[in-house]
Amino acid sequence: MPQIIDGKKISQQIKDELKTEVAELAKKGRHACLAVIQVGDDPASSVYVNNKKKACAYIGIESRAYELSENTAEDELVGLVEQLNEDDGVNGILVQLPLPAHIDEDKIIKAISPDKDVDGFHPVSVGRLWIGEKGFLSCTPAGIIQLLKRSDIQIEGKECVIVGRSNIVGKPMAALLLRENGTVTVAHSRTKNLREITRRADILVAAVGKERFITKEYIKDGAVVIDVGIHRDAQNHLCGDVDFEDVESAASAITPVPGGVGPMTIAMLMNNCVQTIRTQEERS
Ligand code: GUN
Repeated sequence: MPQIIDGKKISQQIKDELKTEVAELAKKGRHACLAVIQVGDDPASSVYVNNKKKACAYIGIESRAYELSENTAEDELVGLVEQLNEDDGVNGILVQLPLPAHIDEDKIIKAISPDKDVDGFHPVSVGRLWIGEKGFLSCTPAGIIQLLKRSDIQIEGKECVIVGRSNIVGKPMAALLLRENGTVTVAHSRTKNLREITRRADILVAAVGKERFITKEYIKDGAVVIDVGIHRDAQNHLCGDVDFEDVESAASAITPVPGGVGPMTIAMLMNNCVQTIRTQEERS
């Protein structure tokens, strides 16, 4: 049986550490406030936004919710972001994605001040990540690094294969594994001989976006398997990009869905929010 990497437990540990740190920073007069903007009322986005607000409340971070109608004009949203950039009472700004089709997501991401970019999506944050400067890290990949480190899984010198090249997961994951001295390959939908490549992986990160796509044939014996996907199957069960039951016998460690990578994203978002006041305190 492989080691089951318990993202629920590890994310709880991180939130508890942050809660203690926030209480300490509060004694020094430092308070974090996250502005969360949601446009429209997509039910999945509402669940994510609510979970973010709950995590803030647990840790002691103030959250300010901005719920805008589906028809909000792009300029209006840019205006709100700019207003929040200037607001000294707000440390972090998060615009929940996806946005309605009439709004250019890139434009909105670029409107957020890099100093308040707690999602780590701004090109300045991405550049800082790739050149090894301090900055906000994209939350899901940063959470995966924490899952590995806190499960005593070594990254240095390991063959790491990521399947998926999105800006939110695949690309920043590559940068972070590289920073940890892994040997990194990014595979994607146009990759030839995918199985040959994934079978080289000591650490395989599946961010494919296809239900139970990664089966045993894609896995080297003893590999660590990280599943970023979340889907509802035909039986209405949650499942990932990895066929857990099939892969379980080959992997040495594996993240479940739910309860693996998912909870880590919010924990790392909270870490980025706390980072804003940590930095203030360090600079004072
Ligand atoms: N939608 C799905 N995941 C995310 C995320 O991590 N950040 C934002 N802003 N929107 C999302």
